Amino acid sequence: EKGGFKHFMLKEIFEQPRTVGDTIKGYISRDYILPFKLREFRRIILLACGTSYHAGLVGSYWISKYLQVPVEVMYASEFRYADIPVDDRDLVIAISQSGETADTRYSALSAKERGATVISLVNVMGSALDRESDYTLYTHAGPEIGVAATKTFTSQLAVLYSLSVSQLPNRDEYMEKLSAVPNMMEEVLGNAENVKKVALKYTNKKNMLYLGRYLSYPVALEGALKLKEISYIHAEGYPAGEMKHGPIALIDENMPVVVVAPKDRVYEKTLSNIEEVLTRKGIVISVGFAGDERLKSMSKDFIGIPSVDEDLSPFLTVIPLQLFAYYIADHLGLDVDQPRNLAKTVTVE
Ligand code: F6R
Repeated sequence: EKGGFKHFMLKEIFEQPRTVGDTIKGYISRDYILPFKLREFRRIILLACGTSYHAGLVGSYWISKYLQVPVEVMYASEFRYADIPVDDRDLVIAISQSGETADTRYSALSAKERGATVISLVNVMGSALDRESDYTLYTHAGPEIGVAATKTFTSQLAVLYSLSVSQLPNRDEYMEKLSAVPNMMEEVLGNAENVKKVALKYTNKKNMLYLGRYLSYPVALEGALKLKEISYIHAEGYPAGEMKHGPIALIDENMPVVVVAPKDRVYEKTLSNIEEVLTRKGIVISVGFAGDERLKSMSKDFIGIPSVDEDLSPFLTVIPLQLFAYYIADHLGLDVDQPRNLAKTVTVE
C-alpha cells in the first residue's frame, strides 16, 4: 500500500533513509564474507542496465579508489555483443534490482562460462540472477513497485560502497561514515517542499541538461533518466567537463541546466562549467551544500543538502533529482508509477 503517499514512487523515495539503513545493517554484520581477495582480480567488470548501470558507475569510482583494481562498467546489452576478453582472472559484478533483466543475466552467464567469478547484486531473493551467479549480495530495499527505480538505486550504492571498503583494514571507519548517511538523507527529504516549488517552475520545458563531475556525473545521468522516463521531458545527463565538446551548443535562455555541485575535489571545475552556462544565458538549477552562497549566487534555483564526505555525496544529491522529476510528472498529470512504454522487469533482449 501507498502509506498515505499519492504514488508508490513518492513513498519509495521517502523510504530511502530506512532502506539504505537496512541495507547497511546487512553489511555491517558481515553477512556477505567472500572467500577471496577482491584485490587479487586483474579486473572488475560491472554489468547492468538503466538505473542499475548508473549505480555501477558510482561504484566504479569507489572500487578504483579503495580497491585499486582496474574497473570497467558496461551496459549489459553492449557487453554481450562485443568481443571483451574475459577469463578466470576477472570478477564480474552484475547489478539488477529485479534480477531478471535478460541482458544482465545473459552477459553475466557468458562471463561465468568463460571462467569469471560472478557476484550479483539484486533486490529480489530467488530471482534468476540470484540463482545463476556464484555469489549474491542483496540490497535490502524491500519490493519496489514504482517503475522508476529510486530506493533500489540508493541501496545498490550502499552495497557497492560496503563492498569496496569491505576488505580494508580500516573498514569499520568507512562503515561508520556510511552509517551516518540515512539521517542525512532524512534531512534532504525534509526539504521536499522546496524541491517541489522549484520543480513547478519548470513543468513547461521541453528539454533539460543535467551536469556533474566525478561522482556527480552518474547522479546527473540518473537525474536525467528519472525526468525523461516519468515526465516525458527530454533530458540529457553529461559529464560537466564534456559540455564544451558539443552540448554547449544547446544552451540558450530556454535551457534549464541542472548542476550537481557538492563541495568535492571537482567543485571549482564544476563552478567554471556553470560560468560557461551562464555566459550562454542558460538557466542554472543547482544541488549543492546548504549555505554555499557562491553556488547559490550563480543559480536561478538552488537546492541545499547537508555537507557530506565527498565519497558519499551521491546518496544525498540523487534525492532532490528524484523528487524534481516526480513533482514535474505529477503536476503534468502523468501516471508516475506506470510510465508509458516501460515495464518494471525487462525480460526481452
Ligand atoms: C529506471 C529503471 C530501469 C531499470 C533497468 C534495469 O528507473 O527502472 O532503467 O533500472 O531496466 O532493471 P534491473 O535493475 O531490474 O535490472
